[in-house]
Amino acid sequence: MIEVSGDNSLYLPYECELIAVHDLTPGEKLFRLRRTDGEPLDHIPGQFVQVSLLGLGEAPISVASSPTRAGDGIFELGVRRAGSLTGAMHRMKAGDTLGIRGPFGRPFDLPQMRSRDLLLISGGCGLAPMRSLIQYCEDRPADFGRISILYGAKSPADRLFKEEFAAWEASARFACSMTVDNSTGEECFSGNIGLITSLIPPLAVVSDNTIAVIIGPPVMYLAVIAELKKKGLTSDRIVVSLERQMRCGVGKCGHCTIEHLYCCQDGPVFRLDEIENLRGAL
Ligand code: FES
Repeated sequence: MIEVSGDNSLYLPYECELIAVHDLTPGEKLFRLRRTDGEPLDHIPGQFVQVSLLGLGEAPISVASSPTRAGDGIFELGVRRAGSLTGAMHRMKAGDTLGIRGPFGRPFDLPQMRSRDLLLISGGCGLAPMRSLIQYCEDRPADFGRISILYGAKSPADRLFKEEFAAWEASARFACSMTVDNSTGEECFSGNIGLITSLIPPLAVVSDNTIAVIIGPPVMYLAVIAELKKKGLTSDRIVVSLERQMRCGVGKCGHCTIEHLYCCQDGPVFRLDEIENLRGAL
């Protein structure tokens, strides 16, 4: 049992119960959680939480579900097994508890996105936080224009949310494209093979009414941004969500700085024009 606070302190975790856990890939799982005090998480797509287990510390994890699906205070986290804390999370079962602080960080600017066409581009694990925004768009169809979803994974086995992506593909609400870097290991994959940048040139983009959102591994940002600029998208219409080493999550420790900005508080969501000239941002 984790000892937690009952108040809203930024620094003290509250207890959450694991409702269910599902395999996404051999190295990633989806955790369905609920606060044990009955309160909602109250997040906005793009925000993250600090997950803690006693003796193992904390890790920042993006929320993977939309607040529009937060009935009974439920929320979901997609977690890659990458260290001792996430390794311990991967061994947890329904009914176990863990600590959560947050939600923290600057979310997507949903009012700015209103009535716009959206081009949602994610690579690898970036589909987990993007899923929070995609589900939100799915549940508020009148709020947005055309929505395109591009997703790139290393291999067919590394694709996250395969069934949900198939449902998005089948939906008239979304135009979806997926690619894998290579198709080794799964014979039945018949989709596109190539880098995610290969999905952008064929798109018809109305540049003055489109906002592009990029979430993925650092290596993909510059190449994707270059392709988007060829489509006429200016830096104020490109949004990125950045990953940094985080400790406090609330702008106090300095671990997540990008020059004068704190990724945990000023981000993790930034407009490109806010960070493109900062050293080490991309
Ligand atoms: S994580 Fe501590 S300042 Fe951002």
